[in-house]
Amino acid sequence: MTDDTLETLRDELLAEVAAAADADALEGVRIALLGRQGRVTELMKGLSRVAPDARRARGQALNLLKDAVADAMAQRKQAFDQGALDARLAEERIDVTLPARPGAEGRIHPISQAIDEMVAIFCEMGFEVAEGPHIETDFNNFSALNIPPEHPARQEHDTFYLPEKPDGSRLVLRTHTSPVQIRTMIDMEPPIRIIVPGRTFRADYDATHSPMFHQIEGLVIDETTHMGHLKGCLVDFCRAFFGIDDLPARFRPSYFPFTEPSAEMDIGCSRDGGGLTIGAGADWLEILGCGMVHPNVLANCGIDSSRYQGFAFGLGIERAAMLKYGIPDLRTFYESDLRWLRHYGFAAHDVPTMVAGL
Ligand code: PHE
Repeated sequence: MTDDTLETLRDELLAEVAAAADADALEGVRIALLGRQGRVTELMKGLSRVAPDARRARGQALNLLKDAVADAMAQRKQAFDQGALDARLAEERIDVTLPARPGAEGRIHPISQAIDEMVAIFCEMGFEVAEGPHIETDFNNFSALNIPPEHPARQEHDTFYLPEKPDGSRLVLRTHTSPVQIRTMIDMEPPIRIIVPGRTFRADYDATHSPMFHQIEGLVIDETTHMGHLKGCLVDFCRAFFGIDDLPARFRPSYFPFTEPSAEMDIGCSRDGGGLTIGAGADWLEILGCGMVHPNVLANCGIDSSRYQGFAFGLGIERAAMLKYGIPDLRTFYESDLRWLRHYGFAAHDVPTMVAGL
């Protein structure tokens, strides 16, 4: 084969490469030309039959041919790869201007919402949040709160007891958040200003009672806090929580073993037409229990009652949430019905913060 024919062959082979329509076709051409029995490979094998004096020149020419074909293939392959990449990029392009798909967004449970709102209001007044365990000692839940053994309050609380220990003592599921008063007064020196949101437990179940429910407790102890502060603080709280600036409020004498004097606070409401509307009206609605901390309770916590005094209050969170958000049945709070939660729940950005307020 002369150099001329080699050149013709080269053009022919390059045309074959150029004609390959896609990567698969190109691979076919590669095998046909450069594979083990490819045309170029066969030509190389034929070198051994060329006369020794012409072999060198022939070898060089064949190598050039082979390189030219290999180069053309590499270029073609790169073009195909680039094309494939471009196609993929076009197909998978992300349109960042598209609006986000609405995700499955959770809702804030009304209990959590009510707690957040209450905490925001009290923290603005200077209270700090304190917490305690759900399983309490009899001392913290009853005795230290001036509720001695055999006191009727122990029966009234419908207490869940844990099994008796060998020494005869029994732990209880706390029946109110008041044991956190005791824990705090034992741990801290006055001045004390805490609120305690948390779970409480009583063996009770109907439309307005659940064996597990929530309370928020408040405790203020210093040298000067008196009943007037109690009233001002709780009236301000109720007005802020229910969002009614002139919400009527009254305090009725009551009895709790751990406060003296004790009171129950009512807020004004109207029951006209069978409904219940918070605010001005002819009726009153009990909202919380409160009083000045009993000197015996202070003494039980090692606080000098001739120097320190203050008030405490306790409020049911479910009840407040039912009134504020218009939820008719307490039991629905714990049924985990997502339709209920979608209806009564809150969006995440409704949660009050210390910065943004309510
Ligand atoms: N612990 C009382 C209850 O559960 C409420 C309360 C708290 C009353 C603090 C007075 C002071 O009913």
